Amino acid sequence: MLGKILIFTFFTSLVTSQQNECVITEFSQVETVVTHCTNIIITNLTVPAGEALILDLQDGSRVLFEGNIIFEVAYWLGHLVQVTGNNVLVEGAPGSILNAQGEKYWDGMGGNGGVTKPKFFNIATSGGSVFRNIYLLNCAHFCVRVAANDTHLYGWTLDVNAGNLNGGLNTDGFGISHANNVIIEDSVVMNQDDCVAVTSGNNLTFRNLQCYGSHGLSFSMGSSSMDNDNGITKNVTFRDCLVANGLYGIHLKTKRGRGLVTDVTYENIKLSGITEDGIYINQDYMDIGNIRRPFKIKNLKISNVYGSINGNLARPVHIVCNEDTCSDWNWSDINIIGTGRSYCNYLPLGFSC
Ligand SMILES: *[C@@H]1O[C@H](CO)[C@@H](O)[C@H](O)[C@H]1NC(C)=O
Ligand SMILES: *[C@@H]1O[C@H](CO)[C@@H](O)[C@H](O)[C@H]1NC(C)=O
Ligand SMILES: *[C@@H]1O[C@H](CO)[C@@H](O)[C@H](O)[C@H]1NC(C)=O
Ligand SMILES: *[C@@H]1O[C@H](CO)[C@@H](O)[C@H](O)[C@H]1NC(C)=O
Ligand SMILES: *[C@@H]1O[C@H](CO)[C@@H](O)[C@H](O)[C@H]1NC(C)=O
Repeated sequence: MLGKILIFTFFTSLVTSQQNECVITEFSQVETVVTHCTNIIITNLTVPAGEALILDLQDGSRVLFEGNIIFEVAYWLGHLVQVTGNNVLVEGAPGSILNAQGEKYWDGMGGNGGVTKPKFFNIATSGGSVFRNIYLLNCAHFCVRVAANDTHLYGWTLDVNAGNLNGGLNTDGFGISHANNVIIEDSVVMNQDDCVAVTSGNNLTFRNLQCYGSHGLSFSMGSSSMDNDNGITKNVTFRDCLVANGLYGIHLKTKRGRGLVTDVTYENIKLSGITEDGIYINQDYMDIGNIRRPFKIKNLKISNVYGSINGNLARPVHIVCNEDTCSDWNWSDINIIGTGRSYCNYLPLGFSC
């Protein structure tokens, strides 16, 4: 009884009389507010070391980030922010920043060693949820994981620019797995790994993304075991994007395991200052030269990919298919300028290597 009264008093003190908003300024308030309130403002919050900001939201909730949200340093796996809910709206106010303080973890080893680094922001929402205008600074490891249904992200900035000179690695931008009907658009990524990495999902659209310093607009398919079935990933489109100053522009990589990725479209992709391959499709990922794997890539449309790659070794196009696993590729208007030679062991319709 006493507990109830205390929580009630505490809770009402957080609700401003006029708009029924609940303001969170201390970490200890998060759980109570999230379970009682649907109009939430998180202002200048410090999340203690080793804790996650868990937003297990009620249907239809709105969350607004204001000011600086800082995550204190601890060597654990994260995610630092975890959002679940149906039909929720999560947004950043102008000038707001969520800061993972990656610079205090980076050691040039990413996820492969050194200190344990937390992943940053996990989205597992559904039902017409929207995440907009969110600025993430200095991801220690992966920035955003989207494992959501019917969810729309736009106006994001993933700013891991400082990692270029300070040992940032595996700072993937948007990682997509088990996601259906997701659109990510009008966003900027500055990082040291894939700008987007699709590992599984259906009905995914990426539009008007600008990627700087990344490893490109990627798929990372297949599992590490040959026996595992990674299922079907279908209907994925990348459109109207810029990839600048990175290793690859477009990178579709498959590993071991069974599975199929089909109905993939890349359209209107501008490249600039790419150092390895403009378009790199390789089915021998993580075992270079092994092209006897079963993973399939079907109906891959690439059109209007243009721009520049740098250096004598950079290849405009580089295709390494397995035996009989690539089919129905239809490409057009590939105009990638560079001095290196393309290599293809499979020829898409409409493209001469
Ligand atoms: C957040 O903190 C900054 C810097 O201390 C301050 O200028 C700003 O007014 C605070 N924001 C809010 C909404 O209290
Ligand atoms: C998304 O839909 C799939 C398939 O229906 C389901 O397995 C998964 O749990 C859903 N995820 C969320 C976050 O609702
Ligand atoms: C993909 O979109 C189509 C067309 O809207 C829809 O029929 C299908 O159910 C969607 N697939 C999934 C897995 O949600
Ligand atoms: C493909 O996915 C998009 C959403 O990303 C959807 O609008 C479209 O209807 C889907 N197309 C098919 C054929 O399922
Ligand atoms: C290949 O794409 C071109 C251009 O989009 C289109 O005109 C042509 O019909 C396609 N061919 C096949 C076999 O799908």
